[in-house]
Amino acid sequence: MTRPLNQAWVLRHRPVGAIELSDLELQSRPVEALLPGQVLVRVIYLSLDPTNRIWMSDMDQYMPPVEIGEVMRGGTLGIVEESLNDDFAPGDYVMGTLGWQKYGIMDPRQGLAKLPVIPGLPLTAFMGVLGFIGATAYFGLLDICDPTPGETIVVSAAAGAVGSLVGQIGKIKGCRVIGIAGTDEKCTWITKDLGFDAAINYRRENVLDALRRHAPGGVDIYFENVGGDILDAVLTVLNVGSRISLCGLISSYNAMDPVPGPYMFRNLLMKRVMLKGFIVSDYIARFPEAIAALAQWMMAGQLKYRVDVVQGLEQAPVAVNKLFDGTNQGKLVVQVSGEK
Ligand SMILES: NC(=O)c1ccc[n+]([C@@H]2O[C@H](COP(=O)([O-])OP(=O)(O)OC[C@H]3O[C@@H](n4cnc5c(N)ncnc54)[C@H](OP(=O)(O)O)[C@@H]3O)[C@@H](O)[C@H]2O)c1
Repeated sequence: MTRPLNQAWVLRHRPVGAIELSDLELQSRPVEALLPGQVLVRVIYLSLDPTNRIWMSDMDQYMPPVEIGEVMRGGTLGIVEESLNDDFAPGDYVMGTLGWQKYGIMDPRQGLAKLPVIPGLPLTAFMGVLGFIGATAYFGLLDICDPTPGETIVVSAAAGAVGSLVGQIGKIKGCRVIGIAGTDEKCTWITKDLGFDAAINYRRENVLDALRRHAPGGVDIYFENVGGDILDAVLTVLNVGSRISLCGLISSYNAMDPVPGPYMFRNLLMKRVMLKGFIVSDYIARFPEAIAALAQWMMAGQLKYRVDVVQGLEQAPVAVNKLFDGTNQGKLVVQVSGEK
């Protein structure tokens, strides 16, 4: 039987600053034969995430870096095309970390989850609200910050995949929510469509002044996606006993030199602040709890989301930079092949 031809982006160089096309190489190779227990998956959607930039670097991080010459790591949703595993059959939709390629071979015990087919639910929902992104927002806000009604939450990268869900969950929990985002269109979307109480365009406004205006009683919870000046502005207006969920620091991922600050770190002491960093995979055993709650809110019309679909695997190394220049409109994915 003729094997399909795979195409895979392989890491060639560690990026210096922003990811360049020349940091990766698109290689073609036949798909290998399966070993007992393995499945062959055709990738339909590839998730592009800020952490791709971290994985490409050799900094001390939460997973091993991608090695030079390896297929670039990436979350994927695909369809089983061949199976030597009794629990998986051709036609099953699955999610796993198959990487930046058209086909992936995996023993499902290494982390392949079968997806339910729910009529009317787009497959892309599993790439965002009903997947790792939704779980990040859910546990990062609820488990770490334990919001109570009436508290004031600030979230940065507020119109992004994670941030937009954090703000809406905050509203569901009866909080006042202020989002910080990089364009007027994003600010309008989160206030008018998603129900945030206020939005700050950090590219046009002084964030500290705007926070003082929108949160005269101070901030109780900060969901941090960005770092840098925005973090310092929020640290300045924290209340006693406030909580920070440290989810991401995207403003520093392309930096080659040590990043200074935060300069208002002392407020963690003065205001007795709890700050906790987390990686969503820490919560994998509790994912069903998050997905059940997120699905219920979504079906009740309380959670909206946007998916930014880029066509073609060959676009991945260029498209990933949309996350860093802010031109992505919601969860960024690459459509690698057709859904059927
Ligand atoms: N801890 C975890 O397990 C976990 C899991 C998933 C994601 N994350 C983190 O969550 C954050 C958001 O990820 P996402 O997947 O939801 O991406 P996203 O928010 O959909 O996209 C990234 C957004 O970050 C903003 N941004 C980029 N550079 C910036 C800068 N220098 N200053 C301020 N804002 C900047 C841009 O929006 P603007 O137009 O508003 O600038 C961009 O659209 C990232 O830090 C990511 O690493 C963490």
